[in-house]
Amino acid sequence: MVVLGARPQFVKAAPVICELASKHSHLILNIVHSGQHYDREMSTIFFRELKIPEPSANLAVGSGSHAAQTSAIMIRLESQLIKFKPDIVLVVGDTNTTLAAALTAVKLQFSVAHLEAGLRSRDMTMPEEVNRILTDHCSQILFAPTRTARSNLRKEGLEKRAYLTGDTNMDALHSVLPVIKKITRTVLQKFNLTPQQYVLVTLHRPSNVDDLKRLRFIQDALDKLANTQPVVFLVHPRTRIQLAKLGSSSRKSSERLILAPPQGYIETLTLLRSASCLLTDSGGMQKESYLLRTPCVTMRTSTEWPETLAAGANRLAPHPENACNLVASIVSDNKLRKRLMHLPNPFGDGRASERIVRIILQNCSKDSS
Ligand code: UD1
Repeated sequence: MVVLGARPQFVKAAPVICELASKHSHLILNIVHSGQHYDREMSTIFFRELKIPEPSANLAVGSGSHAAQTSAIMIRLESQLIKFKPDIVLVVGDTNTTLAAALTAVKLQFSVAHLEAGLRSRDMTMPEEVNRILTDHCSQILFAPTRTARSNLRKEGLEKRAYLTGDTNMDALHSVLPVIKKITRTVLQKFNLTPQQYVLVTLHRPSNVDDLKRLRFIQDALDKLANTQPVVFLVHPRTRIQLAKLGSSSRKSSERLILAPPQGYIETLTLLRSASCLLTDSGGMQKESYLLRTPCVTMRTSTEWPETLAAGANRLAPHPENACNLVASIVSDNKLRKRLMHLPNPFGDGRASERIVRIILQNCSKDSS
């Protein structure tokens, strides 16, 4: 059983699901959608683009506080687990869906495998950090995407359960790269953009958008940045709701600062690949910008992807004005992108899902023997 529910989980799980479904059709695969994300652009479009089969159940938990969301997933998932009795429950990433699924499964004594184990930002104010640590410690199989992740698991005494597999985001990206190349011109035309002449922005962390005073600072800083280069801001639903609260002072989309709804996986990566710089607080996009050689500025105090910092492809800038100034200096640095072409690749060879499936199969046969 694979349990997922939020946008980044669809991307991470898709290569594993496709590998299982296409090459091991004798296995019964139950995909359970928690319903944490439910808008078309946050869910359905990812299933279509990444060719993920229809879930066998949708728990439809929707939005809510951490306790409400996590507990609703637990209660609704329990009956699915009892009904299907899976050999292994695969949980993905670090969202509330991840922790809820791991806890429910382990308490019913099902084997839990954690995809993207061992990440640490060392910031316990992030809900994701709490989810990661607790999920790792109650899972039996840990799929570490990088050496750093495996080493984090070792430091916490979890090395016996850990496998270094590579990162499935890399597999997912490989699978869509030819399409991205084909549609680049059309996507850029849609937004009236020139390659390498615009900044892509995504911000959705509570630490950035939930405090309206800070959100206003961010808005002002983005306005200033838009004087340097056009800015395309893909606005997450959480951010959209918060921006609306700023009322009449909230800016409308303009030619230089384009506010657009979240795009699907392929269009987002297309915009990222041709951007001069990414300004983000997303974990996944820091990594995707690294893989696509687009410089990144992360508006946070920490990251769970230290490899991107060590290679000089990503810079942390928690303060909105500093972050936007840094982006402005990066877009005028013509040599940076060339330097990024020679980055090492700590995220594997694009075949992580093959390894993960092999380990899953070994463990399934262990359980049934
Ligand atoms: C969640 C994850 C975060 C991940 C992010 C990716 C947790 C704790 N957080 O954050 O790790 O980076 O997903 O997007 O699990 N909303 C909609 N439509 C939707 C989904 C959400 O309008 O389809 C709105 C709701 O108002 C909701 C808010 O967005 O309250 C936040 O959604 P939620 O799933 O609670 O957290 P995210 O910020 O999306």
